[in-house]
Amino acid sequence: MSETVQIIIEGKEYEFPVVEGSEQEKAIDISKLRAQTGYITLDYGFKNTGSTKSAITYLDGENGILRYRGYSIEELAEKASFLEVAFLLIYGELPNKKQLDYFQESITQHTLVHENMKRFFEAFPQGAHPMGMLSSMISSLSTFYPESQNPNRSVVDIEKTIHRLIAKLPTLASQAYKHNMGHPTVYPSNDLSYCGNFLKMMFSLPTEPYEVDSVVERALNKLLILHADHEQNCSTSTVRVVGSSQANLYSSVSAGIAALWGPLHGGANQAVIEMLESIREDGGDLQKWIDKAKDKNDSFRLMGFGHRVYKNFDPRARIIKKAADEVLEQLGVDDPVLDIAKQLEQVALNDSYFVERGLYPNVDFYSGIIYRALNIPTDMFTVMFALGRLPGWIAQWKEMVENREPIGRPRQVFTGSKERSFVVLADRD
Ligand code: SDX
Repeated sequence: MSETVQIIIEGKEYEFPVVEGSEQEKAIDISKLRAQTGYITLDYGFKNTGSTKSAITYLDGENGILRYRGYSIEELAEKASFLEVAFLLIYGELPNKKQLDYFQESITQHTLVHENMKRFFEAFPQGAHPMGMLSSMISSLSTFYPESQNPNRSVVDIEKTIHRLIAKLPTLASQAYKHNMGHPTVYPSNDLSYCGNFLKMMFSLPTEPYEVDSVVERALNKLLILHADHEQNCSTSTVRVVGSSQANLYSSVSAGIAALWGPLHGGANQAVIEMLESIREDGGDLQKWIDKAKDKNDSFRLMGFGHRVYKNFDPRARIIKKAADEVLEQLGVDDPVLDIAKQLEQVALNDSYFVERGLYPNVDFYSGIIYRALNIPTDMFTVMFALGRLPGWIAQWKEMVENREPIGRPRQVFTGSKERSFVVLADRD
C-alpha cells in the first residue's frame, strides 16, 4: 500500500499519494488537487515545489552532496573528461571506449558553423555582451537546421541536433569573444580536445599561434564538469518549460542561456569579480561590505554567497577554491582578488547573519578567479558557465521529451479588479 497524506479543506478530508525518490526524498503528488478540491497551491519561486521526476542529478543541500547519474562530483571532476561527463548526463551511463570515440568523432565533425553567421556577429556593436550574442546565435542555429523544428523528430534527428549543439557552442562562444576583441575568427582544430580546441579558438592570433597549456586545459575541463548539471535550477527549468511546448532544442537552450545570464544565477560569477574589485578599489574594508549585504535597506548582496538548495557548503565551491590555489600557483599568477575572496569568506562565515541563513560560498564565488588566471575576460565568465551547463540542459530537455511531459503552464491567484464596465474616454476623469 503506497503512502498517502490527508489534507482537510473546509472540514472535508482529502487524500493524496506520496512519491518517494531513490534517495528517500518525499513529495506529495497534488496532480489532482484542483480537480478534487478547487484549490491550487501558491509557492513563489517554487521553493517547495517539484516540477518533475528526474534520474539525472541528485543534490543533498544539507550534506553538500552532488552526483551526476550516481557518480560523485568529486570523482568526476578528478578523473573524467568533460565529454565523458556530457555523455553520462545525456545517455545515463559512462561511455565505453567505442561509444566515447564515436561521440567525440561525431562532435568534431560538427564544430564549424555556417559562414553566414559571421554576418550576424558583424551586426552586433563592439562590446556587445557575449551572453546576448550567444543566446541569439544558438536560437538562430534552428534556422540552418529546419529538421530540428519538427516536433515529431526522430531519435536520429535528436541525436544529430545534440551533437551539433555540443560541437558548435564553443565555436560561437569564441567568435563572440573575437568579435569584441576585433580579432579574426579562429576555425576549430579537430585534432585537439574539446577544451583545447576552445582555448585555441579563443586565444590564437595570426601573428601568434596559441599552444594549449595542459594546466589551463585541465583546469577548464574541471570547471566545465563542475558546472555540467544542477537538477531543476532556474535556467534548466527554463529549458524544460520552453521545450515542453515542443519548441526545438536550439530555442530551448537559447532561453536557458538568457535565464543563466541573470546576476542571481549564472551571471553571479561576473558579479563576484566586479564586487571583489569594487571592494579592493574601495580600500578593502570587508566589514563595511558585509554590513551592506546584511542591511535590508541596501540592495547590495554578497555575490557568490547563498544558494536555494545548499544551506551548508556547495561541494563545487570547495573543489574550485582548492583548484584556484593550484592553478594560480602552477601558472605563477598572484591575484590579490583571491586573497580578498578568502578573507571575505572568513568574515562572512563568522557572522551570525550568514551562518543563521545558511549562506556559504556557491559555485560562482571562486570560479571567476580561475577564469581570470586563464586570461578569460570577465564578461565571458557566464559564457563559460553556459559551456559547462550545456550537457545538463540537453540531458534534462531529452528526459522531458522522452517522458512526454505535459506543457508547463502554472496557475495563479488573481488579485486584480473584479468585473467592471467600459467607460468611454469623454467620461473618464
Ligand atoms: C547559481 O539553483 C541552482 O542550482 C543555481 C546554481 C546552478 O548550478 O544552476 O547553483 C548556480 O545560480 C548559484 C547562485 C548564484 N547567485 C548568487 O551568488 C547571487 C547572490 N545570492 C543570492 O541572491 C541568493 O542567495 C540566491 C538567489 C542564490 C538564493 O536565493 P533564495 O534561495 O531565494 O534565498 P532568499 O533570497 O530568500 O534569501 C534567504 C535570506 C534572505 O534574508 P531574510 O529575508 O531571511 O532576512 O538570505 C538572505 C536574503 O536576504 N540572502 C542574502 C544573500 N543571499 C540570500 N543576503 C546577503 N547576501 C546574499 N548573497
